[in-house]
Amino acid sequence: MEDQNTIILARIGDTAPDFKAMTTTGPMQFSEHIKDSWTILFSHPADFTPVCTTEMTGFALNQDFFDEKNTKLVGLSIDSIHSHIAWVNNVKKNTGVLFEFPIIADIDMKVSKLYGMLQPGESETAAVRAVFFIDPKGKIRLVMYYPLNVGRNMDEIKRSLIALQTSDKHKVSLPLDWREGDKVIVSPPKTVKEMLEREASDYEMVDFYLAKKDL
Ligand code: BEZ
Repeated sequence: MEDQNTIILARIGDTAPDFKAMTTTGPMQFSEHIKDSWTILFSHPADFTPVCTTEMTGFALNQDFFDEKNTKLVGLSIDSIHSHIAWVNNVKKNTGVLFEFPIIADIDMKVSKLYGMLQPGESETAAVRAVFFIDPKGKIRLVMYYPLNVGRNMDEIKRSLIALQTSDKHKVSLPLDWREGDKVIVSPPKTVKEMLEREASDYEMVDFYLAKKDL
């Protein structure tokens, strides 16, 4: 039998666990909702809290960017749907920013536990600040965890999404601190012939196994 204290973590390479939940935009079957698009599923510790409010506002202000990248946003916290609605209304009144993306009401902690967002060393009752990047095939591709008292970095979330999409599209890897427009890493050669061809190429080469090119 599973130990009550076992924490399930949704990991890179896993199929994103499916669930049914109530959200601020209505009931959601997650696998249906995320079909054929990229998805960023992110948790926050609680409604009506300052750091969370800045983060959710950051996601809302970048809605056009995520739409352009064929990426759905789905938020979550361990609060009721009425609390979510009251918070959305409060932020809209105070700042004029509307959270249009769905926010899951995970009052029974079902989704938080399914994804490993509830990390008892940090809190028994509030989800940590997790970010799951899920590709159009429903696979988890990148995971971030931040503690309760440190807000996430929107620039890094956007950079990571662009990096994943670029890597998939061009079948390349991306070096340290890569940003859109920078050179990308070409896969290492698999044969001596490919290695010799590489030497004659216009790639920026450190050695045969580390070569970069413009896209
Ligand atoms: C916040 O979002 O401000 C916050 C939430 C839970 C614990 C600490 C800070």
